[in-house]
Amino acid sequence: MKTNFYLTTPIYYVNDKPHIGHAYTTILADVLSRYHRVAGDDVFFLTGLDEHGQKVQQAAEKRGLSPQDHCNDLAPRFTQLWERLQIEYNDFIRTTQPRHVMLVQQVLQKVYDSGDIYADEYEGWYSVAEERFITAIEKESGQFRDVKKLKERNWFFRMGKYQTRLIEYIHSHPEFIRPLHRCNEILGFLRQPLGDLCISRPKARMSWGIEIPFDTDYVTYVWFDALLNYLTGVGYLSNEEQFKKRWPADLHLIGKDILTTHAVYWPTMLFSLGLPLPKTIFAHGWWLTGDAKMSKSLGNVVNPLDLIEQYGVDPVRYYLMREMVLGQDANFTLESFIKRYNSDLANDFGNLLNRVSGLISKNFDGVVPQAGVLSAEEEPIKTGGEQLEGKVRKLIQELSVHEAIEEVMTLIREVNTYVEKQAPWKVARTDLKRAGTILYTSTEALRLSAVLLEPVMPSKTRTVLDILGAPGSKANWGGLKHGTKLKSHQALFPRIELEKSA
Ligand code: MSP
Repeated sequence: MKTNFYLTTPIYYVNDKPHIGHAYTTILADVLSRYHRVAGDDVFFLTGLDEHGQKVQQAAEKRGLSPQDHCNDLAPRFTQLWERLQIEYNDFIRTTQPRHVMLVQQVLQKVYDSGDIYADEYEGWYSVAEERFITAIEKESGQFRDVKKLKERNWFFRMGKYQTRLIEYIHSHPEFIRPLHRCNEILGFLRQPLGDLCISRPKARMSWGIEIPFDTDYVTYVWFDALLNYLTGVGYLSNEEQFKKRWPADLHLIGKDILTTHAVYWPTMLFSLGLPLPKTIFAHGWWLTGDAKMSKSLGNVVNPLDLIEQYGVDPVRYYLMREMVLGQDANFTLESFIKRYNSDLANDFGNLLNRVSGLISKNFDGVVPQAGVLSAEEEPIKTGGEQLEGKVRKLIQELSVHEAIEEVMTLIREVNTYVEKQAPWKVARTDLKRAGTILYTSTEALRLSAVLLEPVMPSKTRTVLDILGAPGSKANWGGLKHGTKLKSHQALFPRIELEKSA
């Protein structure tokens, strides 16, 4: 039986065009989806847009558009970018879609009927930028812009009621919030009394949202609306069969800045609805591109999305996945991109293809030779190749994408060293059979590596498999057929020459 795997990205605010943060999480989700699909899982990958709330309303106002027109205008920029980045999602949700609006209203009614929503008058400091009331301590900190005193009647969700249950749940489910330091951060946060969550905005102040069904003077708070997308996407209250199959989600991928909403608000909402919690919420770090020191002294801060135009999608996907240790911050610089590209893709991966295809062309008329008896020299390569899929799969399960990639690159490097040492171009002069064994072994390891990197670089790896006459082949040793005529090709990853070095 297939294992279900339901994963999500955050839904992105439609207040500007997509940036690196959006692209990163979405690529990460795509890479994980692809690995799971290859492993035979029944994957459901949901992404989409968060279209309500003050930020979107203000962005629309600035452009002189209605919020809906503004969203309709910007939404294609996201879907087009996802297409360009070869993102294969299963569903794209927009929170203004009727299916979502209906669900949010049903949920509000349900939670209200159960007694978990009540009205109260509240006076406090309100941050326009943050769209929420802030505490006195937060106000003191001076970190918030546009703060004003506000007294309002609002609707509140009894979040505080679930505090103890949430703490216990986190303790008994070590996989729930990852990485561990984020889990500890949330446990630290939960040491203070949780309080209830204001989930309404009076239309008089902010009207761009989903109307509260039991009080039409109000719309619901954008986060209460947005988090529910994860239920809408799998048919909660509308498609029982799909919902039963998909929920709970296996993985919510998020950035570290939206951890509290996901690891505190969301589970308490689910508790109130009587639904199981997602298995894992994983908070990744940030790509730092605006480091002043970096930009001033080196002038090397770039918009990563521009790199796609120049160097193609696959190298950018590769760089983002290889360079960030999931859970930590990483620096995005042109220099490190070029360095990574040249060392891993041009020198190691691309070079191996060039070498084996060149040698096979020269010594075997471009036809994959047969492997004879393997010597002790080949054994580590073959064993490494045979074990690679298992290692990669395990690391992907652990969400250690950069290490999974590194495993493959390590084999590629070993194969390059092996070819260097075995010197099949010399061996061919005296022992063609032996040269054939060396070249079969190295080409097969290359094929296998391409198969295992396919989720990261879907285009280039397919090109390699096509050249090797093995499209759609699997990651087990022996998939390369001797007698296959290799296709001619150009350099897979032409080296990027650094114009200036800092
Ligand atoms: N709409 C909310 C999410 C609702 S999910 C129910 C939101 N949207 S956002 O567009 O502002 O941010 C989306 C994601 O981008 C967040 O996960 C955030 O962490 C991520 N990033 C924004 N800038 C980033 C980087 N520089 N690097 C990595 N990710 C960052 O929040």
